[in-house]
Amino acid sequence: MKPPLNVGVIGYGYSGRNFHSYLIGLEKRLNLCAVCVRNPERRRRAEREHGAKTFGNVDDMLRDRNIDLVVVATPHDTHAELSIKSMEAGKHVVVEKIMCMNAAEAEAMIDTSRRSNVVLTVFHNRRWDGDYLTVRKVLNEGLVGKPYLIEESILGYTERVDPSRWRSIKKIGGGPLFDWGAHLIDHAVQIGQVAVDRVYCYSVKGRPEVDIESYMKCLIHFENGLTYGVELGNMARIDRPRWYVLGEQGALTKTGFDPQERAMNMGNIDGAVEDAENYPLVRTEKNGVVSEMRIQTVRGNWKEFYRNVADHLVEGKDLAVRPENVKRVVSIAETALKSAEEKRSISCRIQEISPIIRQLRGKLSTSESGLRRGYAVSILRVGIMGCGNRGKTHARAYAIDRFLGLEIMCLAGGLLFVLGFLFYPEYILYEIGVSGQPLLFLLPLALLTIGFGLVYGSITKDQKAN
Ligand SMILES: NC(=O)c1ccc[n+]([C@@H]2O[C@H](COP(=O)([O-])OP(=O)(O)OC[C@H]3O[C@@H](n4cnc5c(N)ncnc54)[C@H](OP(=O)(O)O)[C@@H]3O)[C@@H](O)[C@H]2O)c1
Repeated sequence: MKPPLNVGVIGYGYSGRNFHSYLIGLEKRLNLCAVCVRNPERRRRAEREHGAKTFGNVDDMLRDRNIDLVVVATPHDTHAELSIKSMEAGKHVVVEKIMCMNAAEAEAMIDTSRRSNVVLTVFHNRRWDGDYLTVRKVLNEGLVGKPYLIEESILGYTERVDPSRWRSIKKIGGGPLFDWGAHLIDHAVQIGQVAVDRVYCYSVKGRPEVDIESYMKCLIHFENGLTYGVELGNMARIDRPRWYVLGEQGALTKTGFDPQERAMNMGNIDGAVEDAENYPLVRTEKNGVVSEMRIQTVRGNWKEFYRNVADHLVEGKDLAVRPENVKRVVSIAETALKSAEEKRSISCRIQEISPIIRQLRGKLSTSESGLRRGYAVSILRVGIMGCGNRGKTHARAYAIDRFLGLEIMCLAGGLLFVLGFLFYPEYILYEIGVSGQPLLFLLPLALLTIGFGLVYGSITKDQKAN
């Protein structure tokens, strides 16, 4: 796409105004051109502050053909509906965290982005928090060795919780887990990487005037042995370190919040400075010698989020926050809520599904033509990817599918698959989700793929003939 891209923001509350309108304004390739807000006072404010065109309802804004990208900055229970509507209107979408209320909604959103051939991403700005970046750096440099426990806490004390705010109402998606919790679980997913095999969460509802939790502690177990603790609460008169990391060779602790939000609210995000007393403390052992040091916090940079969105839409660079990855956040949060409700630890398998498996699973449960198309497209997509052509494989595979029959698709896909296996085995391994398996495993799989395609093709033909 050619810059500047026109952006329309839905919601002009704290996030729509202070975060999105501000950060979009700092990215030259994006142009804030419209705001959708129902409240007349906020509407006038948006016009005054940005000279943007304003709309009183979402449908009117989505009819505006000038808008390329829509930002959904509204309460959590509206995220799925507004994102899907926007994508079906042909707009790319940035949706605020938490992506949506449950995994089924996340799946529907991802599916719509693929069908509509538009980009969907989630505003996980806290992937660019200084503290998170510092912890990642310490882990990558091996200063604490292999981590077995990471805990993040956001604790504080709020005198009174306002029951009329949407954030205090459970069915709208209020509660700490969908709020700050979404960021912390996202950190867990980025650091943990591998599948989550157990989630345990307990909660306290200490405010009788609302139905949301006042304290929550979640323990997320990854299959590699890492336990990630997420602790949230607004009834804690003494807080804990923001981070506590234990590894086999060392440990880290860090206090304080990332300074960007405060600086941004004062109108200059670049002025954010971390207080030196919040620098992380790291204790590490090397060759039997234990040393302790304060290391400088890496500088956070929320501007990276929209820089990446523009990089992706304009230059086709990789998208930093992929919705398939964020779906794991939603699944973990959903499982944690269930665990707290049922007062038990829940065994699960929460991992990112490889695109081909996702497509096969989805299509297997739908109609015959859906199955045919999904299957054939998946094979062809792997083939195209295997041949080193990694951009927009999905769209290309669908485009080719329109012109070719099943047998040719399967044969071509199978052949490309074999070629891909010879030249780019790692991509094929990733696509079929068997990384680490011996390469010889792939050859029979490729032949099986072709065979199944032909047999299925003839069955489909026979069924049609009957
Ligand atoms: N990433 C972060 O660091 C961060 C920080 C803060 C908030 N957030 C997220 O941002 C989102 C919004 O939170 P907020 O604090 O901005 O809430 P807020 O201040 O209450 O603002 C919500 C906005 O959404 C609009 N809205 C509500 N329901 C709507 C609907 N059905 N259709 C269209 N517009 C609707 C409201 O519009 P009207 O004025 O017309 O009623 C209002 O402008 C949440 O997902 C929250 O978690 C993220």
